[in-house]
Amino acid sequence: MIRHRLFMAWVAALTLFGIASDARSLTEIPPREFLIVYSGNTLGELKPCGCAKEEDQGGFERRVTYFKQVAMKSKNTLFVDTGDSFKEPSRQGKIKARYLMQAMSLLKYDAVIPGDKDLVYGEAFLNEGASIPWLLSNARLSKINPPETRIKKLENGLTIAMLAVVDPDLYYAAEHNGGRITDPKESAKKSIDKLNASEHPDVIVLLTHMKRDKALSLLALDGVDVVINGHIEADTDVIDMTPVKQDGKIFIQPGPRGQKMGELTVRIDKAGNKSFDQRMVRLDSNIKFDPKMIKWYEDYNREVEDLFFASLDARKDQHGKEKVYASEQMCLTCHLGKHDVWSKSRHGHAYETINRVNKAFDPECLKCHVTGFDRAGGFISEVDTPDLKNVQCEVCHGPGLEHAEDPQPGFGSNAQQACKLCHVKNHSPNFNFSKYWPKIKH
Ligand code: HEC
Ligand code: HEC
Ligand code: HEC
Ligand code: HEC
Repeated sequence: MIRHRLFMAWVAALTLFGIASDARSLTEIPPREFLIVYSGNTLGELKPCGCAKEEDQGGFERRVTYFKQVAMKSKNTLFVDTGDSFKEPSRQGKIKARYLMQAMSLLKYDAVIPGDKDLVYGEAFLNEGASIPWLLSNARLSKINPPETRIKKLENGLTIAMLAVVDPDLYYAAEHNGGRITDPKESAKKSIDKLNASEHPDVIVLLTHMKRDKALSLLALDGVDVVINGHIEADTDVIDMTPVKQDGKIFIQPGPRGQKMGELTVRIDKAGNKSFDQRMVRLDSNIKFDPKMIKWYEDYNREVEDLFFASLDARKDQHGKEKVYASEQMCLTCHLGKHDVWSKSRHGHAYETINRVNKAFDPECLKCHVTGFDRAGGFISEVDTPDLKNVQCEVCHGPGLEHAEDPQPGFGSNAQQACKLCHVKNHSPNFNFSKYWPKIKH
C-alpha cells in the first residue's frame, strides 16, 4: 500500500517534472526582436532644397548614412520601401528617376514596391534599377518580373516573409491590363497560404500601395502581422504616420518625401505574442552626408546643367520673343524709394542665393528665385536676360513694360495675391502675410 503510494507519488513527480521540463524548454526560447526600417513616398526628392530650416530634412546623402548606421547597430533589420519614388514625368524628372534608382540600389533594401508613380517612364525603365529588390504579389508586369514574396532569415533565427500588393485602381494600365493586376486581398490570401505551408514564417509583413483606408482593411487578413502602406499624389500631401494597432497587429505609413524614416521594432515574447514600438527618425542636419552620395548629387547636378543649356534655344524660341517685362532697373527710374527697400530685401538677392549653392541652372529653383521663369518674356538665363535675375517688382505687380512706358495709376494692384505662388508650405512653412509683409513693405 505504502509502496503503491510511493510509486504513485513517483509517477506524479515524474509527470510534473515532465511538464516542468517542457515549460523550461519553452522558457529557453528567449524573447526576440527585430527592426523594420520603412520609407516611401519619396516623390523625386533627391535632396532638400534648403529654402527653410524646418524643411531641411531627408535626401539620399543622409539616407545612405542613416542606413549604414542602422545596419552597423543590428543585423536583425529589414529595410522596405512602399514606392512612389518618382514624380510626374518630365525630362528633368527622368534624370532624377535614374539617380533615384542608383541610390535605391546602393541602399540595401529587402523589398521595394513599384508604386504607380514609379511606372511613369514605363516598365522597361525600371530595369535600370536592376538591383532594386522589387516585390509585387498581385501583378504581372511586362518588362520586369518581380517575385511574389521574399523571405529574410535573420541572425536571431526569425524568418520574416514579405509580400506586396497594389491597388489596380491607381495604376495607369489598370483598364488595359488584361487582368494583370489581380484583387489585392485575394492574392495576399493566396500568398500567405503558400508561405505558411512552405516557409513557416515567424512574421508576415505586407507592403501595400494604395489609399490608406483600403490598405488598413488588409490588416484583418489572417496571418498578416504588419501592414506598411504608401502612396502620395502631390508633395504637399499630408500623410498620417500614426500607427494603428489592432489585435496584436500593426498598420503604419511612411511620411512624405523621405524626410523621416520609419522605425518599427517588433518583439516576440516567449509565448509568441508580438508587440510593437514605432517611431519616426528625422533625417536632419545631425546626420552627415555620405561622401559617395555627395559625388552622386554633383553628377546629377551636372546633368541638369547640361539639360539647361541644351534646352536654351528651345526656351528662347518659346519665351524670348515677346517683351513684356521692364526690369527693376526701369522701375527704379521713377520709384526710387520703393526700389531702395526692395534691393535691400532678400527678394533682391534671391538669384545670388541659388548661385551660391550652385543651382542657378536648375529650373526647379529658378521658378521661384528669378523673374518670369518659363513665362513669355521672362528669365531665360543669366547671359540672355541678366536684367531679370532675382524676385523683382514684376513678379508681384505683373509684367510692367507697358506701365513703365506710359505710367497710369492702378497698375499692379493685385500684388498681394502673388505671395502664395512661392511662399508655399514646403519652401516657406512659416509664411503669414501679416508677418512677412512688414519685412518688405515699400
Ligand atoms: C517668385 C517667387 C516669390 C514671390 C511671388 C514672393 N516671394 Fe518672398 N521670397 C521668395 C524667395 C525666393 C525668397 C528668399 C530669397 C533669398 O533669401 O534668396 C523670399 C523671401 C521673402 C522674405 C524674407 C523672409 C525672411 O524671413 O527674411 C519675405 C519677408 C518675403 N519673401 C515676403 C513676400 C511677400 C509678402 C510676398 C507677396 C507680396 C512675396 N514674398 C512673394 C520668393 C517669392
Ligand atoms: C516654390 C518656390 C521655391 C522653389 C521652387 C525654390 N525656392 Fe528657395 N526659397 C523660396 C522661398 C519662398 C524662400 C524664403 C523662405 C522663407 O524665409 O520663408 C526661399 C529661400 C531659399 C534659400 C535661403 C535660405 C536662407 O535662409 O538663406 C535657399 C538657399 C534656397 N531657397 C535655395 C533653393 C534651391 C537650391 C532651390 C531648388 C532646389 C529652391 N530654393 C527652390 C522659394 C522657393
Ligand atoms: C514680393 C512682392 C513685391 C515685390 C517684389 C515688389 N512689390 Fe511693390 N507692392 C507689393 C505689395 C503687396 C504692395 C502693397 C499694395 C498692394 O497690396 O498692392 C506693393 C505696393 C507697391 C506700390 C504702391 C504703393 C502704394 O502706395 O500704393 C508701388 C509703387 C510699388 N509697390 C512698387 C514696387 C517696385 C518699384 C518694386 C521693385 C523695385 C516693387 N514694388 C516690388 C508687392 C511687391
Ligand atoms: C516713367 C516713370 C515710371 C516707371 C518707369 C514706372 N512707374 Fe510705376 N508709376 C508711375 C506713376 C506716375 C504712377 C502713378 C502714380 C499715381 O498717379 O498715383 C505709378 C504707379 C505705380 C504703382 C501703383 C499703382 C497705384 O495706382 O496704386 C505701382 C505698383 C507701380 N507704379 C509699379 C511700377 C513697377 C513695378 C515699375 C517697373 C516695372 C514701374 N512702376 C515703373 C511711374 C512709373
